Order: sequence, then C-alpha cells, then structure tokens
Amino acid sequence: MSKRYTITAALPYTNGPIHIGHLAGVYVPADIYSRYLRLTGNDVAFICGSDEHGVPITIKAKKEGVTPQDIVDKYHAIIKQSFIDFGITFDNYSRTSAKIHHDTAQEFFKTLYDKNEFVEEVTEQLYDAEANQFLADRFVTGTCPKCGNEEAYGDQCESCGSSLNATDLINPKSAITGNIPTLKETKHWFLPLNKHEDFLREWILKGHKKDWKPNVYGQVKSWIDDGLRPRAVTRDLDWGIPVPVEGGEGKVLYVWFDAPIGYISATKEWAEREGKNWEDYWKDEDTKLVHFIGKDNIVFHCIIFPSMLKAEGSYILPDNVPANEFLNLEGQKLSTSKNWAVWLPDYLIDFPNQQDVLRYALTANAPETKDNDFTWKDFQARNNNELVAIFGNFINRVVVLTNKYYGGIIPEPSDYSTIDEETLATVKAYPAVISSSIERYRFREASQELMNLARLGNKYLADEEPWKTFKTDEARTKTVMFVALQIASALAVLSEPFLPFTSNKLKSILCHSALDAESTWDDISSKEVLLPANHQIGKGELLFSKIEDAQIEAQLEKLITSKKANEAANKVVEPQKEEITFEDFTKLDLRVGTILEAEKMPKTKKLLVLKVDTGIDTRTIVSGIAESFKPEEVIGKRVTVLVNLAPRKLRGVESQGMILMTEDEGGNLVFVNPDTDAVNNGLQIS
Ligand code: 2FM
Ligand code: ZN
Repeated sequence: MSKRYTITAALPYTNGPIHIGHLAGVYVPADIYSRYLRLTGNDVAFICGSDEHGVPITIKAKKEGVTPQDIVDKYHAIIKQSFIDFGITFDNYSRTSAKIHHDTAQEFFKTLYDKNEFVEEVTEQLYDAEANQFLADRFVTGTCPKCGNEEAYGDQCESCGSSLNATDLINPKSAITGNIPTLKETKHWFLPLNKHEDFLREWILKGHKKDWKPNVYGQVKSWIDDGLRPRAVTRDLDWGIPVPVEGGEGKVLYVWFDAPIGYISATKEWAEREGKNWEDYWKDEDTKLVHFIGKDNIVFHCIIFPSMLKAEGSYILPDNVPANEFLNLEGQKLSTSKNWAVWLPDYLIDFPNQQDVLRYALTANAPETKDNDFTWKDFQARNNNELVAIFGNFINRVVVLTNKYYGGIIPEPSDYSTIDEETLATVKAYPAVISSSIERYRFREASQELMNLARLGNKYLADEEPWKTFKTDEARTKTVMFVALQIASALAVLSEPFLPFTSNKLKSILCHSALDAESTWDDISSKEVLLPANHQIGKGELLFSKIEDAQIEAQLEKLITSKKANEAANKVVEPQKEEITFEDFTKLDLRVGTILEAEKMPKTKKLLVLKVDTGIDTRTIVSGIAESFKPEEVIGKRVTVLVNLAPRKLRGVESQGMILMTEDEGGNLVFVNPDTDAVNNGLQIS
C-alpha cells in the first residue's frame, strides 16, 4: 500500500567537499531507500541541504582570511553539484543560510520560548580573554570525562559519542589561541532534556523501537539510563541565526538547534516549489519520517531533535534512525584535516561515468553494523569480479546472442523445461527478497541479492548452453534466450536503487520505453512476461569495464602524496624555548634505567604505566607513548630517565619521573637510548 515518507539525509557541514565516508554512511543508503520507495509507488520527500553554521566554518574562514559566507558559498556549490553528478536524487537540496530556514528556525525557537519550554540561565562559560571569545563547541578541546579521549570537543566527544557541555571537559584548551580558558558569566537558553526523559524512555525504550538498529538503540538507551541534563541551545557567536527574543542580542542559535530544523525548512521550500503542502510531510501521523545519519549524529537525532519536536507539539517523530558506523580508508580513520580521504569531486574526475562502481563498492561493504574499511583493492575487485564478471558478463552475453541469432528481436518460446520454470519462479521471488532487506535497512544484503540474480542468469546460460543448442535445437535455443531476456529485464528494474546509471543504460538497451507499459518493481512477480516475444531490443554496449592495476596504484599514490603534503603544510616547528643556565641544566638527574613492566592505562589512548629499574630503586612512571609503542615492545628496553622530576598524579597513578624521548627524521617517537654498555649509575654531565 502506498505511503507517504519524509526521508532526511544529514545536512553536510559546508567546510569541505563530500568524501566516501559521508557517501557510505549516509547518502548512498538514503538514496537507495528513496529510489526504492518511489519505484514501489510511494510518495517520497527526500530532503537534504548544506549545514552552513557552526564553529568549524568560522575556524576555516579565519584560517583562509575570508568570511564564513565565502566558505559556505564555495562549498555549497561544490557539494550540491557533486551530489547531482553522483546521482543522488534529493527532492530538495537546500541550505541553512536561506531566508526560509532562518525564518523557520527562529519561529521554532520563538514557539518553544513562548511555551516556556526553555530554561533561561546565567552561567559561567569558558572564555578566551586574548581572543575575546566565549569557547563553546569546536572552539575548545579537552579530555572527555566519560572515556578519557584527550581530543574531545566542547559539544561532543567523537571517540565515545557522548554529547558534552564545554564546561564538562577536563583540562580545556582554547582552539583559537591554545590558552587555558577562564570562566565568565553569560546568559543562555537551555532545553531541559531532563524534563523529556520520561517521554523519551516511553517512546524509545518502551515503544516499538526494538526494531531500530542495535547500535542506535543501545547508544540511546545508555544515554537515557545515565540521566539527561539541560542543554544550551544558544551561543555567544557572531555566525549563525540570531536569537529572536529579548536579551538575545549578539547571540545565535546553537548549530545543532538550527540544523535539524533545516530538514523542515528544506521541505517547505520544496513544497512551495511543487505546489504541495509541507505539513503533510511533517505533521500527519500517517507519514513515516526516517533520518539517515552517521553514528556521531545519533544523540542529536534520537534525543535532542525529538525533544524539540515533542516540545513544539505539532510534529511527528522519527519512525527510524538507521545510523551507520564509520568507514575507514586503507586501515586508517578518514580525516578531513589530515587529507586522508577519497573526495567525491576527485573520484568523478578520475573515474568518469563510473558512479555506480563506487556506489556498489560502498554498498557491498557498507559499515552497517560495525566500522568497515574501504580499500582501493576491494573497489577494484568489486568492479572486476562482480560488476564486470557477473552482472556485465550476463547482460553482454544475452544482448549479443539475441542480436546475433535473431537480429535483436525477442524469440517466441516453446514449452518450458523444469529448469526454466524454476528459474522464472526464482526471478519472481527476487523483488520480495530485495524489498525485505531494504525495508530492514540492510542495503549491503540487498545489493548481494541483486548480484545473486545476475549469478542466477549466468548459471542458467552456462547450464543451458544456447550457443551449443543453436546448431541442433532451434526451439530450445529460442526458449532459453527468452528466459534469459526476462532475467535481464528484471535486473534492469531491480538494479535501479543500487546502480541507477547502469539500470538506465540497461533499460535503454532492452528498449523498455517501447513497451506498452514499462515494468515496475511489482510487475516482476506479477506479470507473466516482462519482455514479450517480437519486442525489438537494441545493440549491446558494455555496462562496466575492467579497472586496471595501474589505476589503483595511482589512487594509492595520490593518497600518500596528499597526506605527506598536508603533513608538511601543517608541520609546526616549535620555537626555541627560553635560554637556561648551566646550573639549571645540572639540576637534572638523568639515569639509565630498564623497563621491567608495562601496561596500558585503562580508558586512555596515550598512556602506558611503566615499572622502571632506575639503578636507585624500582618506581612507577606514567609515560605518554602508548600510541607509538605496545606494552610488550618496551619491556626490557634500556632508557634514559629523569629521576628527580617532582612526582605527579595522572589518572590517579603517581608518576615518579620521566622517560626521555625524541623524534626521528620521520617524526616517529624514539627512546633516548643510552649506549648499551653504559654504566647504570647515572650520566655524567660535564
Ligand atoms: O555531522 C554533521 O556533518 C552535521 N552537519 C550533520 C547535521 S544533520 C542535521 F541535523 F542537520
Ligand atoms: Zn568520550
């Protein structure tokens, strides 16, 4: 039965192009889902747009000496065009700097304000006096109080996904000047999430949300179980949407307050253009709202935005939030700042007309239940071994033989054999199989089922061997080719969500548009035949072509070169420190020690707890080298130890000294190693 759907894809930050992590996590699955729903006759609004506020954009603008508006204008155009070229079929791709969005977000805030849904409070916030700037969100980094990640941001820890207030950070540091912030009073409006705890518990935990993906349900449950706290929804910044109430002068809406409202304003913009009623897509209980996001966005879409919608009172709530995990690249975390990424505009230039290859590789290896790795080798294998060797090969054989034997006219079949009947029955079952996977957000599984249908076609041809029977049994050959053509036609329809460019090409090769009615998804199971006898098909054209090793090596080379260039550009050479006297230096008591034991400090990335024999005693030293060395690698190492450094506690463990380290020419940490035969009784300083 036809239904109305509002499908949203996370609004990308407009401070850089789209990369494969974004595509695999959000845009490819959202597009597969939307295309599928349209194909099966549903009413779909597929909504996205540029997220143009927030601190990263102002940081980038400052760095480049341009305005934030310049940055968002540049990247909005790049992102929008690359989505079009890649075949993502948003019904509307808007932007949060649009007037309709400013008006919608301000009106939303005003409604909540008038309903007393906010708590207004003067609190002490982190402040950088040198930069004359309050430090919220990405303007401040520090240690996450939940997981110990030392690079957490003022609004979120990307390591454990916790949503944070800037003042929660341990050892906060300004991202603008590097200074340690002071505290300064300022007034803000808070959304009291604690007030919505009962509703969230009821809606998510006791409601029907057990069919949500376990990673999403589990994260949300643990946040609710931990207890929710009020969350500031305004900021002391000058880039954003002005706070529209008295006392809000000089303040803007928090980017995560305005961004999800962007889904609503983009729907309004689309509805105005199309002569539709936007409220049908946001306020009608029969509409199904689905948010496609990456896992770092879960808290905002499952806790904060639903609380905002509930507080407003007239909106529907999401039916599902099928968040994906992260995609890594060649074994390393994707990183915009380190330029460790495959950028969509680059891909479109390097692999022209091969959008479907990337779509397929990302879907077949989608990070649906755990983080996954994209490798160029896997990309090549998915293309050469599956798209070319299975899908492309089957279609090519069917089209070439039909042209060769019958001048491209579909032959009349005779009686079906058992194999023919079984094969046709299996084809008819495919739409339901693929639908079931898609409707459960298992796009990876769905793409493999599609490939299985092409496999079925290949096996059928290989078993029935029409190239052999052609010389001996005309009637049998015609029947086999007729059946094979039905499989090809089913592939043309069922591949549309996954391989849209290929599907179009295939439909045009099979001349689908010349049929009385073009086949739909459901026709595959219900219609007796998809391509009737005597229908004329076109000449063949290769759907996929082999990707050579040289192309893959060039991509790997490109990755490494850009990473190195980026490291060189960002290399900060620390200026020489203040001069010290000889007497200062002689105060250092350096000894040669041996590491006896080593273990990782729990819940930290960088720290190892070492037991070191210093020659004087055996003592505990906490050393920040865990990212460079495994505990077992350092046991037995002879090292230089500063033994008279005042002890200090790190994570509750007292560190009694310091292991001396330096960097080699490659920037790797290395021990300041004593001569292997040095006497273990202290270094002479002379
Ligand atoms: O994480 C991000 O890239 C955000 N710009 C996503 C925003 S989603 C939505 F709420 F707009
Ligand atoms: Zn954390």
